[in-house]
Amino acid sequence: MAALGAGLLATGLASPAGATDDDGASTTVEPFGTTPEGTSVERWTLANGEMTVRVLTYGGVIQTLEVPDADGEVGNVVLGFPDLAGYVSDDDPYFGALIGRYGNRIAGGRFTLDGTTYQLPLNDGPNTLHGGPQGFDDQVWQATPVGDDDVAALRLELVSPDGDQGFPGTLTTTVTYSLDADSRLSIHYAATTDAPTVVNLTNHTYWNLAGEGSGDVYDQTLQIHAGAYTPVDETLIPTGEIAPVAGTPFDFREPTAVGARIREDDQQLLYGQGYDHNWVLDRTDDGAREGSDSEDALEEAAVVHDPGSGRTLTISTTEPGLQFYSGNFLDGTLVGTGGHVYRQSDAVVLETQHFPDSPNHPDFPSTVLRPGEVYDSTTVFALAH
Ligand code: GAL
Repeated sequence: MAALGAGLLATGLASPAGATDDDGASTTVEPFGTTPEGTSVERWTLANGEMTVRVLTYGGVIQTLEVPDADGEVGNVVLGFPDLAGYVSDDDPYFGALIGRYGNRIAGGRFTLDGTTYQLPLNDGPNTLHGGPQGFDDQVWQATPVGDDDVAALRLELVSPDGDQGFPGTLTTTVTYSLDADSRLSIHYAATTDAPTVVNLTNHTYWNLAGEGSGDVYDQTLQIHAGAYTPVDETLIPTGEIAPVAGTPFDFREPTAVGARIREDDQQLLYGQGYDHNWVLDRTDDGAREGSDSEDALEEAAVVHDPGSGRTLTISTTEPGLQFYSGNFLDGTLVGTGGHVYRQSDAVVLETQHFPDSPNHPDFPSTVLRPGEVYDSTTVFALAH
């Protein structure tokens, strides 16, 4: 599975509209509006077996992801907006988006690399969040269909110039979404740089296995294969401690309802207004990136299950960390794809990643990428019912 999407060739291109095969995988395209700057945006539809995924070239957003429930009823299980305006707006909470150059927070927007200190623009109180105010979620990516008869796949490319959002180095990033016939959506990330920099890429999909806009996810169970997490300060920056989850509301080693402990009087939950933390995944390797982590294995990280619909999401990754964010800041002001208002905990976000603020924590797995190295990371979302 790790190789899925990494080396797929563009085959079967029947027309400029994309690669289609009525009997199996299909990858098709349609216009999805124009940004305020005048750039055209496309929406690509990847379909295979029972699953259909819609991906926007704006932010590489997963706009919808449709799968059947236990009764065969097809539903969209991710939060999103019906049109481009929602995604372009400053109010977009990163629905479904690709996150870069650096997923989660960098303290004070500042880090030192090889003796040079870099100051990034701040966009989350005193910190930089998700790559800064114009992160990868706000960029229009170049899309190429790369699927074949068995796999629906789309390659997205973005060149981020030296100094973009304050980061050093020209970063060339390729993200490939691949959907196989067994309802497995693989995301393969690759990046290279022409100067030393830091990189931490992820995807920010909000999952509600009972269906987008169906209410809170408190009864859905979550299992995270992690014996430790990284506690945070009041601005959600890791303190540097790797704390055991045992005996805390952060222990998801056994499947546990998301809402079972979310309102406990726990300082960490109060800081996050719910769960908004990085779990240190139990890995058979250490998940550290030394030049390239392509040798890191794809290992199961988390499982979400909705008893009502019977749907199960299993997440596997090569990454060492997982941010579990319980949609705490959804406040009823956004209306989603199905016309419903989104409120707190209407979804879980499970972001595979290196740890937040790693550039300021030398003992965390390194996020440094140097010229000649290839950033290489894979996450697989497998849906079952
Ligand atoms: C999460 C982050 C949260 C919040 C959210 C977007 O990844 O951890 O604190 O910023 O993104 O609303």
